[in-house]
Amino acid sequence: MTYAILGWLSVSLLTLLILPYVLVRLNKQFIHTKDKRFLGVIRFLRKLHKPAGILLLVTAGWHGYLALFGRIRWHTGTALFILVLITVSLGGAFFRLKKRKLFSFHKLAALLTVLMFILHFFFPYLFS
Ligand code: HEM
Ligand code: HEM
Repeated sequence: MTYAILGWLSVSLLTLLILPYVLVRLNKQFIHTKDKRFLGVIRFLRKLHKPAGILLLVTAGWHGYLALFGRIRWHTGTALFILVLITVSLGGAFFRLKKRKLFSFHKLAALLTVLMFILHFFFPYLFS
């Protein structure tokens, strides 16, 4: 059952990672607030962004290792892990080099990660 807890922990981390983007978008389109508490929440979430990304790599890898009983093979989870690894690497590279292209690729990789999670959740054995 530990694998399920680690799976849901990974879901929480992924949510935390994309929440600032979602909140900023919602605010621009619909909410239109300059409330300090709302902006404070976004700032707080951005502080958690980097550690949460690195932690996700650990929880996802651990969850996957347990879920596949230590026999790593091709699975929607494996594809998801590779996408998380790419997203984290691009995030780190953007943080270091501050290249706009890297930021676009970081966001694109994040979107692909979320889409792959949906596939992994609803059709886990699609690739088997
Ligand atoms: C961001 C990364 C990941 C997230 C958020 C995630 C999330 C989840 C969740 C929520 C479940 C359902 C748990 C339950 O039964 O309550 C699950 C199941 C599973 N995951 Fe992942 N997972 C991730 C990565 C991986 C990786 C890297 C692997 C393997 C390489 C993997 C393999 C599996 C397997 C085999 C199951 C069981 C499917 C089933 O029998 O229905 N997952 N995952
Ligand atoms: C799977 C993990 C990750 C996901 C899904 C993710 C997702 C995102 C998204 C959607 C944005 C856009 C935010 C916006 O436009 O407002 C963003 C921004 C950013 N990400 Fe990530 N990220 C992850 C991991 C990381 C890691 C590990 C690092 C650095 C070590 C990082 C560094 C950054 C930076 C510097 C920004 C721009 C500044 C900011 O909005 O805070 N990301 N990330």
